[in-house]
Amino acid sequence: MVNEAKLEINEATTLPALQETRVKYLGKKGWLTAELKTLGNLTPDERKIKGAALNIVKTELEAMFDAREAALNAAALEAKLSGEALDVTLPGTKFQAGGLHLLTRIIDDLAVIYKSMGYQVVQGQEVETELYNFDALNIPAWHPARDLWDTFWLTDGRVLRTHTSPMQARYMQAFAPPFKIVVPGKVFRFEAVDATHESMFHQLEGLAVAPGITMADLKGTLEEMAKGLFGERAKIRFQPSYYPFTEPSADFAVYWENPRTGTAKWLELGGSGMVHPRVFEEVCKLRGDEVYAGARGFAFGLGIERIAMIKYGVPDIRYFFQNDLRVLKQFRGALE
Ligand code: FA5
Repeated sequence: MVNEAKLEINEATTLPALQETRVKYLGKKGWLTAELKTLGNLTPDERKIKGAALNIVKTELEAMFDAREAALNAAALEAKLSGEALDVTLPGTKFQAGGLHLLTRIIDDLAVIYKSMGYQVVQGQEVETELYNFDALNIPAWHPARDLWDTFWLTDGRVLRTHTSPMQARYMQAFAPPFKIVVPGKVFRFEAVDATHESMFHQLEGLAVAPGITMADLKGTLEEMAKGLFGERAKIRFQPSYYPFTEPSADFAVYWENPRTGTAKWLELGGSGMVHPRVFEEVCKLRGDEVYAGARGFAFGLGIERIAMIKYGVPDIRYFFQNDLRVLKQFRGALE
């Protein structure tokens, strides 16, 4: 019987089968219990001998059961692990890192350049009132200059700002001079869209108000910006122009040598001029004080897309807003 038990233990290939064998031999109703019960019928001497023998058998079988159980457990673990094996030599899944839009990068660059000249960067609102977009900038309703800015009107009479200039009046209404600010942001015009005109684009407005400020300060400031953007050889040129909120007014162009093609050109960037006295008068009305009476300052406004198109040879303004990654990816890291 003992030999049979040993054989069955070694032949048990699963834990449940082994457990069954254990119950069969060592369980309450098993072989060993039955054997122990027979001890009562024996003489004391026989009982002593058989009892001792059964004890040895019991210890031996228990050890065999435990060893077999440990072996089966180890085999089961081994099988489980090899089934779940992770091949760490497989190449990982590449994920796409995002990047800043080229226009965002240029706005950031401009902010750095102007901050280095002591300017503060502020933001305005995209939905404006007629008062700030036009009237406070010396463009009353009857003024023909309103035709220069084809406008999206909201049903409540407000407008999508046609330029960043409304922040001139808003900032002066809230803060006293002297100060220097730049205002980057989106502007909107009811335009016939083509390769150089969009109905939504970005501008950077500049405004500096301080005693004794002149057109020479304006030119020096724009030239510093041009060098920051296009390199030390960049220059700025003024051309007489007209804006209702500046007098005199000048459009400005940048002289830029293209390192890729070796060509040099004058390229129009934006409008500028000395703040018109009427703007200061309107601001005095808005504030209800005379802080800006007789003040002096210069202002400018430029198109951000223009800078990007010139510097990176983007031939069509619409490419910036079509979200075509084939285009946008080319400029990831372009300004690093
Ligand atoms: C203005 O918007 C004035 N507010 C600029 C200004 C500010 C003058 C302060 C004086 C003092 P203008 O409409 O010319 O001006 O626009 C300025 C620049 O915005 C243009 O030179 C051009 O670079 C850009 N721009 C104008 N219209 C579009 C358009 N539809 N698409 C893309 N860029 C445009």
